[in-house]
Amino acid sequence: MRVLISAGRIEARIAELAARIDADYEGSGPLYVVCVLKGAVLFYADLVRAIRHPVRLDFIGISSYGRGKTSSGEVKLTKDLDTSIEGFDILIVEDILDSGITLNYLVQILQQRKPKSIRIAALLDKPERRKRPVPVDYVGFQIPDEFVVGYGLDYAEDYRQLRDVCVLEES
Ligand code: IMP
Ligand code: MG
Repeated sequence: MRVLISAGRIEARIAELAARIDADYEGSGPLYVVCVLKGAVLFYADLVRAIRHPVRLDFIGISSYGRGKTSSGEVKLTKDLDTSIEGFDILIVEDILDSGITLNYLVQILQQRKPKSIRIAALLDKPERRKRPVPVDYVGFQIPDEFVVGYGLDYAEDYRQLRDVCVLEES
């Protein structure tokens, strides 16, 4: 296990993203921030605390990965939002953008519910791996094509509680 992005760098970057989000939504109504469970939960908790603009919190569960390191290519809604998003500005918060299959699907289903706008914040982005286009507005860090864990990200549900984003090396 090797540290790729330290907790300190994550914290500093989140402050920058939150400042941009505050500026972008200035004068608008509450921002409806949607956490994509479970991987985004730590990023989400830190990001919403750094945002000054009024927010509403909700959670959605999506699964596309089995227990392996590669996507099954099949996306499943495992938990829906609790409330209607019609007419709201939506910010989807995701841990990592990889093939893009998950977010592409999520944007499609949320778009049908007639929000005022949808933007995406992703802590990590692996641009080389993209298979589906995803319009991502706020990216924490672009990373190379390596499997990472920690700060919410898992390998077969392990390592989510690490404070740093680490590369899981083959043993
Ligand atoms: P996509 O649908 O291929 O873009 O995959 C996005 C989802 O795959 C993320 O929400 C993660 O749960 C998972 N994922 C992709 N790459 C990694 C990784 O390097 N480590 C842990 N999970 C990953
Ligand atoms: Mg995941």
